[in-house]
Amino acid sequence: MESKRSWAEPYKIKMVELLKMTTRQEREQAIEEAGFNTFLLKSDDVYIDLLTDSGTSAMSDRQWAAIMMGDEAYAGSKNFYALEDAVQKFYGYKNLVPTHQGRGAEHMLSQLLIKEGDYIPGNMYFTTTRLHQERAGGIFVDVIVDQAHRPQDDFPFKGNVDISKMEKLISDVGADKIPYISLEGNVNMAGGQPFSMANLKELYTLCRQHDILIMLDATRTAENAYFIQQREDGYSDMSVAEILLEICSMTDGCTMSAKKDGLVNIGGFFACNDTELYQKAQNFCVVFEGLHTYGGMAGRDMQALAVGIEESVQDNHQQARIGQVEYLGMQLIKADIPIVRPIGSHAIFLDAKQILPHIDQDDFPAQTLAAELYLESGIRAMERGNVSAGRDPLTGNNRRPELELVRLTIPRRVYTQAHMDVVVESVAEVYKRRQDIKGLTMVFEPEYLRFFQALFTRK
Ligand code: F0G
Repeated sequence: MESKRSWAEPYKIKMVELLKMTTRQEREQAIEEAGFNTFLLKSDDVYIDLLTDSGTSAMSDRQWAAIMMGDEAYAGSKNFYALEDAVQKFYGYKNLVPTHQGRGAEHMLSQLLIKEGDYIPGNMYFTTTRLHQERAGGIFVDVIVDQAHRPQDDFPFKGNVDISKMEKLISDVGADKIPYISLEGNVNMAGGQPFSMANLKELYTLCRQHDILIMLDATRTAENAYFIQQREDGYSDMSVAEILLEICSMTDGCTMSAKKDGLVNIGGFFACNDTELYQKAQNFCVVFEGLHTYGGMAGRDMQALAVGIEESVQDNHQQARIGQVEYLGMQLIKADIPIVRPIGSHAIFLDAKQILPHIDQDDFPAQTLAAELYLESGIRAMERGNVSAGRDPLTGNNRRPELELVRLTIPRRVYTQAHMDVVVESVAEVYKRRQDIKGLTMVFEPEYLRFFQALFTRK
């Protein structure tokens, strides 16, 4: 690999979408109307949209061509078979059930495998994943390594499972109470941090001994494979595609939000090797998603995903994708802005606890910082802290997680390096006036996944 030379995007731009710039006064009004929740802004009022990398990728000309090949048959669409081929070839699982997006697959997996009172270990949690586990009667247990909870710790594999935490759980509750471990690639809530292959091998051995399944959250696992190639001994000569297949070969199935690695705007799937589980998933699919050969996806979207999967495992794609995120992160570090280290795959996470230490966690520093960044320049980011973590079901108190972060999430193949420079300047401006920033009060709190719809006022 010619890694000494600067990377550049392995594509050129064929079509553009114009952006709107707003005045500070317009933004002041927009964020007030949105209850200081960036999820409730109109995208028309946003200049650079870093809310999420989910469903926001730019599709390639090959994917748009695939859209025209949609076979919208209710049953047995040829696009389903193309997607099945792509999943078998690049992820290695035998059986595929499409779903409308990732959480459809999580719902399916949780309802099929979890019984009331079961324990579901995970390398940290994702919001929708944990909620579906809890709704199925499961109790989530965090078994990620301690380094993951420390934003300034430079450990290269902060997505690793702490094997001793996993062993302790098995001895405390018994393996028969643990149907599977939920293993996420490039752990989103930890800052987009990978697990290592060595860690997965250890986990695999332990889980096989105790008959515990490993269910992968494959949403950003091609990106995890790239980090293994870059950081782990013995993998530098393997391609991202080969590493991804090796990861999947040690797992029993996956849930996938295809809106991230998959380079499409909508879609997801459940995949597994076991025939009986597959049959149950197909049957569950007809009740909640759609017939098992489309599961809530249009034929054309399945075809675009089949192409997107193939593009997502190309080394030069990942080098440019993660290279852009690294560029943003390095510029922020140069500007002395505290961010989660090491730089992750899909986003830069601002450390709101360090930036706004005078704001108590129950006054939502990360929510506040995201609102201030929008006010500054029209950049939309996302809170990943006390609001996202929700309340402890037992005590009813805010969970007050160790990580109180603002996520600047980079859509794939969408923004340029110049956009990244504007982001750095805007964050630096907010940082300069951080002492004058006050927290927020939550005035409306929805029952589930409150961060999407909660409303706030200034303190
Ligand atoms: N798993 C992970 C790791 C995710 O990041 C997401 C979504 C899901 C599952 C759920 O998938 O949205 O297709 O239903 N993450 C988005 C984000 C929402 O912005 O991080 P979905």
